[in-house]
Amino acid sequence: MWIYVNDRFVRKEEARISVFDHGFLYGDGIYETLRAYKGRIFMLRHHLARLRRSAGLIGLDMPIAESDWPALLQETLERNALSDAYLRITISRGEGAIGLDPRLCPRPTVVIIGLPLQSYPPQLFQDGVSLTVVSVRRNLTSALSPQIKSLNFLNNILAKQEATQQGAFDGVMLNHQGHVTECTTSNILFAKDQCLCTPSVECGILDGITREIVLLMAKEDKLPIDEGCYTTEMLQHADEIFLTNTTMEIMPVRRIDTQRIGQEIPGPITRRLQELFRLNLPRFLE
Ligand code: PDD
Repeated sequence: MWIYVNDRFVRKEEARISVFDHGFLYGDGIYETLRAYKGRIFMLRHHLARLRRSAGLIGLDMPIAESDWPALLQETLERNALSDAYLRITISRGEGAIGLDPRLCPRPTVVIIGLPLQSYPPQLFQDGVSLTVVSVRRNLTSALSPQIKSLNFLNNILAKQEATQQGAFDGVMLNHQGHVTECTTSNILFAKDQCLCTPSVECGILDGITREIVLLMAKEDKLPIDEGCYTTEMLQHADEIFLTNTTMEIMPVRRIDTQRIGQEIPGPITRRLQELFRLNLPRFLE
């Protein structure tokens, strides 16, 4: 396995970063998860734009020129003979003396990992997943904005841990006002009375790229859309619920805590959007 570290590809065994890396010491850094379909990357420009946005929001200078990323990602796929793949870009603040000041780190650390895509079991797409509303609240936008895709993932990890302890697939995180935000690595959308609803960015979510494509598909299909603030009760009374992210695409939800959702899994709107997503996929590959 070849991994890109800083300025070259090395074997996995030689891929090493310092114990003084501020990504390790403080979770100071950012990342992106991308996906390739038969060697072509889904929404590459959008992922790179979001990476740039995350970097800007933490005041980190991007160590690699914008125009160099596509070739580096392509080389990661080719060197590892990957076709349907998971790609992860990690950029940390870099190696530096102990202390929080980013100026202690002269150079960011860059790592690109490419792996064969581990698909979710097909059964989950047929039966839907179960969720629980967790007690861990999503980070306050004014504290650590969920729009920064940061290496500081403990907020989500604590929520995931709680969900797992409850025997659920994932946890629905609320914001400080008690409004629904997202799950630990995915956005949540639901259908109610023929309207597709999803928490707005202002609720404190990562504006997922899959969510954006699904909303585009819905719009093109003339399905009414509402981006707003929703309570747990509204979610429990939904006709259908599904999750979106780069690796799962569109995952139906069958249950929230003790509340069964919808008549059939996937529901008609979820199924339609899954079909449209697959049909339109070639438009979004680079
Ligand atoms: N997670 N919300 C959170 C908190 C996420 O971490 C992610 C992505 C999403 C969905 O974003 P997108 O559709 O752009 O993948 C929403 C990725 C898959 C991860 O952490 O690996």
